[in-house]
Amino acid sequence: MSMTPTALITGASSGIGEALAREFAGRSWGLVLVARRTEKLEALASTLKAKFGTPCHVIGLDLTKSNAARILFDEVSSRNLTIDCLVNNAGRGDFGAFDSRDWKRDEETIQLNVTVLTSLCHLFSGPMLERGSGNILNIASVAGFIPGPNLAVYHATKAYVLSLSRALHAELSSRGVTVTASCPGPTQSEFFDHPGTEDIKALELVRFMPAKQVAEEAVDATLQGKSVVVHGWLNKTVVESARLVPTRLLAPLVKQFMR
Ligand SMILES: NC(=O)c1ccc[n+]([C@@H]2O[C@H](COP(=O)([O-])OP(=O)(O)OC[C@H]3O[C@@H](n4cnc5c(N)ncnc54)[C@H](OP(=O)(O)O)[C@@H]3O)[C@@H](O)[C@H]2O)c1
Repeated sequence: MSMTPTALITGASSGIGEALAREFAGRSWGLVLVARRTEKLEALASTLKAKFGTPCHVIGLDLTKSNAARILFDEVSSRNLTIDCLVNNAGRGDFGAFDSRDWKRDEETIQLNVTVLTSLCHLFSGPMLERGSGNILNIASVAGFIPGPNLAVYHATKAYVLSLSRALHAELSSRGVTVTASCPGPTQSEFFDHPGTEDIKALELVRFMPAKQVAEEAVDATLQGKSVVVHGWLNKTVVESARLVPTRLLAPLVKQFMR
């Protein structure tokens, strides 16, 4: 690892990504902050520089645009930056019945949560494997363990992230590169700040976890080289309970809470 290790965080302009940036900065890491809202990234970079002396790079990029992963990798290379930890945090999801949804929105969700994440794992693991060290932290979700009627595409993308992360960890960890899937449940962020989410019955039943707590646990798990971390006892209980429900009954059961 470099003298001052560097973490690249996608989706660092709010929520869990911003909390992860604060967490890495507090542990004396340098940062590359990526998202579309450059002004929010610049403000965060100034705060972290003033508070911790964090070396911060800001890259404003819409990750759903064509070839975005390659553009990001090339930009990092052109700045001569070594990435010790890649954090694939940027993600989105919309609620609503599958057949009545705007396909363009779901296509973008798959692009961001699946295609770009996988491409970034591929690009950034190369130099890490050459050095024989590095960490990848993929923000999956408790949703990855459970099919989600009315949030079907989002849950499916997170199942993909979980599966990919586990498989890559098994492939790469013996060569010095660990891959961790962080699985939060409902968390305080901007994720639910759009119309429709207030109707989700399941959300009435849960306590939203602070993003700071998710970030602390996710960074701990990453630096300890763990494969999967589920955040909080309630989310662990949900995951373990879901395992006990017969597969054919699970999606219909979840549907009762996802109206
Ligand atoms: N909140 C929860 O309850 C929860 C639970 C489980 C998992 N998660 C996962 O946690 C991750 C972070 O979400 P969050 O809850 O912190 O939500 P959030 O506050 O909405 O943050 C999402 C981040 O992704 C960035 N982003 C979105 N679209 C982008 C694009 N096209 N290009 C580049 N960046 C983009 C946003 O930045 P810009 O808008 O500035 O581009 C923002 O920084 C996601 O992967 C989400 O699925 C969240």
